Amino acid sequence: MTILDGKETARAVREELKVRAEAFKAAYGKEIGLAVVLIGDDPASRIYVGNKVRACAEVGIRSVLKALPADTSEEEAVRVIEELAADDGVHGILVQLPLPPHLDEKKLLSRIPAEKDVDGFLPENAGALALGAPRTVSCTPKGVMELLRRYDIPVRGRRAVVVGRSAIVGRPMALLLLNADATVTVCHSHTRDLADITREADILVAAVGKPRFVTADMIKDGAVVIDVGINRLDGKLVGDVDYEGAAEKASFLTPVPGGVGPMTIAMLLSNTVEAAERRP
Ligand code: GUN
Repeated sequence: MTILDGKETARAVREELKVRAEAFKAAYGKEIGLAVVLIGDDPASRIYVGNKVRACAEVGIRSVLKALPADTSEEEAVRVIEELAADDGVHGILVQLPLPPHLDEKKLLSRIPAEKDVDGFLPENAGALALGAPRTVSCTPKGVMELLRRYDIPVRGRRAVVVGRSAIVGRPMALLLLNADATVTVCHSHTRDLADITREADILVAAVGKPRFVTADMIKDGAVVIDVGINRLDGKLVGDVDYEGAAEKASFLTPVPGGVGPMTIAMLLSNTVEAAERRP
């Protein structure tokens, strides 16, 4: 079994992006800019945002952190996003989710211009992916594809099963695999005989958000197993896959932590560099 080392792969991606960020600066006399809007004080969000800001610094992307209090009004949040939308020094805007409950996620995100939507969350970007002509693609599934590519894992003609159908991970993951000519099945909480389906998978992606949900008996011998989950269990970070069991069956397996997670952040940087190159 080969461990798909997301940490090391993300490092390699960042090195490449650093070169592009330097070339951008040499060409346009300004840095690439990413604005991160964090509203409220969700502890996990603070950690994620801190990681994103640090990763920007590593590749020479200027980050602008707009940290707003939990009781920020919708008008104020809209004003901040519109100001960033109009700022020529800001090439990407990320609004960290989840938002405090009084704020309307769709309404706020819709104020981000599609070309600055580095999360790929807007209908324009999600739709382009669904039509098979992707523009900006959601970071986590894009990171999974990059991991497969860099480990020379073929996708064309293979059976891929995605467990989970979220707008951020499951759906775009299925579409990316489909665009790469896999035969794709999407499973979810209402799927019957789940294990019978997952056992067909040459490539199995677990994005359910339940600790150690995918067990060895659900995996075909020699499958590529991608674990997108990040769950806290008894103070420990565990994925959606029972790692020890899966390691007995899989040919390739992502660890948690150190698998898909670092790739997600690397793809955020990649989306930001691409957005800047398209609209300097
Ligand atoms: N919250 C958890 N994951 C993400 C993500 O990828 N992007 C944003 N904006 N918020 C998140």
